[in-house]
Amino acid sequence: MAIEPLTITDTDQTEQDKKLQEKLKTSGSIPVHIAIIMDGNGRWAQKKGNIRLHGHKAGVESVRDITESCAQLGVKHLTLYAFSTENWNRPVSEVNGLMKLLVQSLRDEAERLEKNDIKLVTIGQIERLPEKCQRQLREVKELTKNNSRMQLCLALSYSGRWDITEAVKQIAHQVKDGNIDPEEISDDLVGSFLSTASSPDPDLIIRTSGEYRISNFLLWQLAYSELYITKTYWPDFRRDELYQAIYSFQKRDRRYGKVKNGYTKSATASVINQIIS
Ligand code: FPP
Repeated sequence: MAIEPLTITDTDQTEQDKKLQEKLKTSGSIPVHIAIIMDGNGRWAQKKGNIRLHGHKAGVESVRDITESCAQLGVKHLTLYAFSTENWNRPVSEVNGLMKLLVQSLRDEAERLEKNDIKLVTIGQIERLPEKCQRQLREVKELTKNNSRMQLCLALSYSGRWDITEAVKQIAHQVKDGNIDPEEISDDLVGSFLSTASSPDPDLIIRTSGEYRISNFLLWQLAYSELYITKTYWPDFRRDELYQAIYSFQKRDRRYGKVKNGYTKSATASVINQIIS
């Protein structure tokens, strides 16, 4: 019999938490892919009379807790919107602070990711990040590249429009070179040129801090994702609320634009003509 590797996560987990997770696993399906817009770090810090960077630092604790609990639950893909293309327009001091925090967090978490069998990947314009960040990302990606329990994807210097624009450019080149017939261009083909080509579309998207918008996140990929919006600021968003979000997801009726089987009597042409005359 194969023995499950012992992970730091599993040994640290409380009995109460294990029970909650078991309950959640039996109450419905666990989303394969969860994507999160982590918002509210700045407001969380300001509410406490601190500068915004304190909020980002506290947000790293939530990243750790949510990553571990997703892996424990059997989520296969977790995508976190860590830095948007638009975030470059923030004050230089905040951008620099965020980049430093990213380097430090990657350094601190590398071993934990490896022990928990989590693979780190990124999407976005990584070449725009400071060299130190790029180096650290390369190291952790290399260290974790063979891990298979869950894929943690950090969206860094990412925007949905950038992703689609890049895909369009690549497809245009392929058409120009005669490798793709324009008539062959389909949803699937476009998807295969996006930076997320190797992951399924997210089943559940969570946004913290109570804003009702997508903020240029995975615009193409979110077509049929279920949304969960909470007022909680990201640094306060921990596994207990993740479980609520998943429970809410399990109660949704995902129809993908179709009608539920047996839900309607099928209409004959004469009935349709009577209604629309
Ligand atoms: C949004 O809050 C958050 C960000 C722009 C950055 C998120 C970064 C982290 C949680 C830390 C580093 C991440 C990793 C993956 C180690 P906001 O600043 O927009 O908050 P506000 O809406 O209250 O201003």
